[in-house]
Amino acid sequence: MAHNENQILSNTFVLAPEETPNIETRYRRICTPLPAFETISDLQRAASLFPDVNCYQPPIIWDSSEGFTIRDRVGNQWIDFTSTAVMTNTGHGHPAIREAVKKHIDGGGLMGQFSFASDIRIELAERLVDIAPDHCDKVYFWTVGSEAIECALRLAREAGLCQSVEKYHVLTHQADYHGWTLGAHQMSGTSASKPWLATPDSAIHHIPFPGGAAGESGNTDWSKFFHKSMSQLARKGITAEKICAVFIETMQGWGAVPLPVDYVKTLRTWADANDVLLVFDEVQTGFARTGKMFAHEHYGVKADLLCIGKGLTSTLPLAAVLGPADILDLLPPAEITTTHAAHPVSCAAALANLDVIEKEHLIAESVRKGNITEEALQNLKDKFPDVVRDVAGFGLLRGIHICDPQSGELSRELARDWTWAAVKHGVMLFQVNRPSIKVCPPLVIDDEAIVEGVEALGDALASILK
Ligand SMILES: Cc1ncc(COP(=O)(O)O)c(C=O)c1O
Repeated sequence: MAHNENQILSNTFVLAPEETPNIETRYRRICTPLPAFETISDLQRAASLFPDVNCYQPPIIWDSSEGFTIRDRVGNQWIDFTSTAVMTNTGHGHPAIREAVKKHIDGGGLMGQFSFASDIRIELAERLVDIAPDHCDKVYFWTVGSEAIECALRLAREAGLCQSVEKYHVLTHQADYHGWTLGAHQMSGTSASKPWLATPDSAIHHIPFPGGAAGESGNTDWSKFFHKSMSQLARKGITAEKICAVFIETMQGWGAVPLPVDYVKTLRTWADANDVLLVFDEVQTGFARTGKMFAHEHYGVKADLLCIGKGLTSTLPLAAVLGPADILDLLPPAEITTTHAAHPVSCAAALANLDVIEKEHLIAESVRKGNITEEALQNLKDKFPDVVRDVAGFGLLRGIHICDPQSGELSRELARDWTWAAVKHGVMLFQVNRPSIKVCPPLVIDDEAIVEGVEALGDALASILK
């Protein structure tokens, strides 16, 4: 069915048990109708307590999770393809992270320390500076990814204003997602119409995304594509000397869509020539998720600032901006304060998480398991060519782009129905609210579970196409 891209789907899943196939394998167990009868009253309580905006995921109450397995309290068990919104890179409740958190709390470290120095925060910052690109020598900690983006926006504008009073315009790409806070939201192209913004930031501009979303083919001259966007902006008076930064969602998260390498290289050359910062949003793509420590490495370019979060801890809230001192020191002491950033317990989780990434070779594992996933998804595409328009991504950040077999148009409705059918087949997915399904299991998933999970996606799709 044709739909308006800006229209929000009615997300409410029916809170009544539906017929569900019985499944019992090594990795999956579905033994009740779903949503499970025993959970209905709690789901209703949730719906009555939480705003509608929070209530859009499949109606399953997660009771426990471990590694790549999620369980409810009535005996059902799922292979996790969500990593909790692409966060649990090292798996749910990794023993090393649990142990580090416990040890820190038991050692008296439950207090937050605001901006007072803390040993564990210093240790983590040193570790991050070690793994960050060479020119990044400072770490500006935050609690969630949106704050890191907000901070990078402020820093980029401060840096631009040091050069010229007019150098404060910021570019992002259409359909990028950068978070929900005021600046980050306006840089996100997904909510195209924002009537609630009394005074939208007129110095944030969305340029066309290079690739699938722009309908371009593999033969496109990406340099020309980029310079065309610049010419269009220049016609509105936004010339390079007025631009302080380009924010790049390192791979567009909705469908795991990378940018063409030639495009990013063009962007880098242009940025260098015009003293513009390239800010890579690695909140979703960092920490081995795509087969590199940071996904911008796929493009072979320098990132002036990096925004990180999610997979930094695989558990507790922690985010940061990494960059050079001359940019991170632009704000004077106490210009911005925040209470919870770099809580010592989150730092303990992050340090243990980084150890796990290293000791379990999760960068290499992400590449290897990514190849298994890609092959399985290509098979799925061959089996359902009318529905699976494309499969995209690197490592274990993959997206299936879905179209309606009747209309041939990208379909959020079918994505939503397929998501629910998959959950009923024992594979946990989350609704992206876009015409896509994301396949992003914890990096510690078994090879066989990847193959079984993707086959189950096929069974789920067949069950709704019937
Ligand atoms: C690319 C990207 N940037 C920023 C954010 C915002 O992070 P948070 O939800 O922690 O505020 C997200 C969250 O999904 C994201 O995927």
